[in-house]
Amino acid sequence: MYFKRIRGVLVILSVLVSASYGQKDDVKGACDITLRDENLTVNCSRRDISTIPTWPEQINNLEQVHDVVITFFNNSITTLTELSGVRGSHVAISFKSNQIVEIEDDAFSNVPRMVYLDLSNNFITGEVLRSEIFHGPYKNGVYDSIALETLNLGFNEIHSLDRYLFQYTPNLTRLYLNNNPIEILDHVTILALSSAGNLEVLDLSKTDIDTIPLDAFRGLANLQHIDLSDNRFTTVPESLSLVGSTLKYLTFNKNPIVKLDDDSFVGLNNLIELEVAENDYLEEVTRSTFTPLKNLRVLHLCHNMNLRYISHNAFRGLKDKWTLKEVYLDDNNLSELSTDLMPWSKLEILGMTGNNWLCNCDLANIITGQGASSKFKPGEIPYCAAPMRLAGSLITNITISFCPAFDKTFTPNRGFSLGNLKPKHVIWSILGVALIVFVGMVLGMLAKGIKTVYVKKIKNASIRYANLKEDAINA
Ligand SMILES: *[C@@H]1O[C@H](CO)[C@@H](O)[C@H](O)[C@H]1NC(C)=O
Ligand SMILES: *[C@@H]1O[C@H](CO)[C@@H](O)[C@H](O)[C@H]1NC(C)=O
Ligand SMILES: *[C@@H]1O[C@H](CO)[C@@H](O)[C@H](O)[C@H]1NC(C)=O
Ligand SMILES: *[C@@H]1O[C@H](CO)[C@@H](O)[C@H](O)[C@H]1NC(C)=O
Ligand SMILES: *[C@@H]1O[C@H](CO)[C@@H](O)[C@H](O)[C@H]1NC(C)=O
Ligand SMILES: *[C@@H]1O[C@H](CO)[C@@H](O)[C@H](O)[C@H]1NC(C)=O
Repeated sequence: MYFKRIRGVLVILSVLVSASYGQKDDVKGACDITLRDENLTVNCSRRDISTIPTWPEQINNLEQVHDVVITFFNNSITTLTELSGVRGSHVAISFKSNQIVEIEDDAFSNVPRMVYLDLSNNFITGEVLRSEIFHGPYKNGVYDSIALETLNLGFNEIHSLDRYLFQYTPNLTRLYLNNNPIEILDHVTILALSSAGNLEVLDLSKTDIDTIPLDAFRGLANLQHIDLSDNRFTTVPESLSLVGSTLKYLTFNKNPIVKLDDDSFVGLNNLIELEVAENDYLEEVTRSTFTPLKNLRVLHLCHNMNLRYISHNAFRGLKDKWTLKEVYLDDNNLSELSTDLMPWSKLEILGMTGNNWLCNCDLANIITGQGASSKFKPGEIPYCAAPMRLAGSLITNITISFCPAFDKTFTPNRGFSLGNLKPKHVIWSILGVALIVFVGMVLGMLAKGIKTVYVKKIKNASIRYANLKEDAINA
C-alpha cells in the first residue's frame, strides 16, 4: 500500500541481502531495489556474490507487482541453487557472466512466472542442462510447466542438449545457443530443438557447425528468425527450406561460402530480411540466386571483401512483382553493376559505399538515368575508383558525355575521353564500325546492280499495288 501511494516515484532501497542456505555470509555489497510504477528491479550486479541469496523481505511484501527484473550480472556464482519465490506476472532473471558450472534440480520451480532467463557467459555444459531443470512445481504426480519465453545459453560449454530439456517450457520462443562448441547437431539435440514447437528465434551463431541435418527443424512450425553466422558452412543449408513457410529473417554472416547460387535460398519464399555479410571468401552471386525470395524487403549483401561479381540475372523472375525496398551493397569488392540487375527506381534505400566503382556508362545509367542517386542515405554517397580521371569523384557528380542518351535530364558535356572506355568496349566499337562499313559497301554495290535492272519493274508494281488498295476500299 505504501508503494501504491507513491506510485510513479522512484524508490531506491539499499538492502543488505542476507545470504541463505546456512552458508557463510559472503555478500560484499547490497543489492539495489527499485520500484517504478508496478515494475520492480533488483540490481545485484557486480557485487562479488558467490551464492544466491533469498530475496529481501521487501520483495515479498509488495503488492501489485507487475514486471520484476532481477540481475546478478558479473558476480562469481558457481552453483545455481533453487531460487525463492518471486511475485509478479513477468519475471526476468539474469545470471550473465558468472562462473556457473552446476544448476540444481528444481532451480526455477518457485518462479513459474519467469519469462526471461539469461545464463549466458558461464561454464555450463550440456550435461548440466538436465531435463529436471526447467520446470515448475511438482503437483499431483506431474511437474507444472513454466512460462519461460526467452532462454539465453550463449557463451557456455554446450556440446549437446538433453532431448527432454524443453519438455516443460511450452512457451519458449527465443533460444540463444550462440558461442557454444556444438560442432555437430546430434540426434538428441535435434530432438530437443524439435520439441520447442513455439520457437520463433533460434541463434546458432558461432557454434562451429558446418551442416544442419535435413530434419533438424521439423516441428518448428513457428520459426521466424535464425542466425547461422560465424560457423563453417560452405553452402547455405538446404534444411532451412523445411521452415521456408515461416522464416522471415535469415542471418548468414561470416561463413566460408565462395558463391551464392540458385540453390542457396530454395524454398525461402517468405523471407523478409536477408543478411549475408563479412563472408570473406564470397566471390560471386550467380544467376537466379535471389529468385526464390519472393517477399524479400531488405537485403544486406555487404562487407564481403572479395565479392566482385553479381550476375545481372541474380534477381531473375522477381522484377515484375518487386518487393525489395532496401539493398545494402556496401564494402564489397564490386566495380560494376549491370543496369538491369534490379528496377533501381523502386528501391527506397540503396547502399553502395566502400567498393571500387568503375564509373562507366552502366553506372551512370543506374545512378542518373534510373534515379538510384536519390536512394543513398545522407553522407553515404559512393565514390568512383576508376577510370583515373574520375577516381575520387562522387558517383552522383559524374556525367559521361559519350554515353547513349538514356535520359533527357542527362546533360551532354564537352570532352570525350577514351579513358572512360574499357579496352573491351574499344575493340567492339572498332569491330562494329568495320562491320558497318563492310556491310554498307556490299549493300551499296548490290543496290546499284538491282537498281539498274529492276528500277522500272518495281516502280510499276508499287503503283499497281496502290491502285489495288484504293479499289478495295472503294468497292
Ligand atoms: C513496466 O513494464 C511494462 C511492461 O514491460 C512497460 O510497458 C512499462 O513501461 C513499465 N513501466 C515503467 C515505469 O518502466
Ligand atoms: C547495478 O549496479 C551496478 C553496481 O552498483 C551498477 O554499476 C549498474 O549500473 C547497476 N545497473 C543498473 C541497471 O542500474
Ligand atoms: C566482471 O568483473 C570483473 C571484475 O570483477 C572484470 O574484470 C570483468 O571484465 C567483468 N566481466 C564482464 C563480462 O563484464
Ligand atoms: C503460455 O502462454 C499462454 C498465452 O500467453 C498462457 O496462457 C499460458 O499460461 C502460458 N503457459 C505457461 C506455462 O505459463
Ligand atoms: C578487390 O579486387 C581487386 C581486383 O579487382 C584486387 O586487386 C583487390 O585485392 C581486391 N580487394 C580485396 C580486399 O580483396
Ligand atoms: C561534386 O560536385 C560539386 C559541385 O558540382 C563539387 O563542389 C564537389 O567538389 C564535387 N565533389 C566531388 C567529390 O567530386
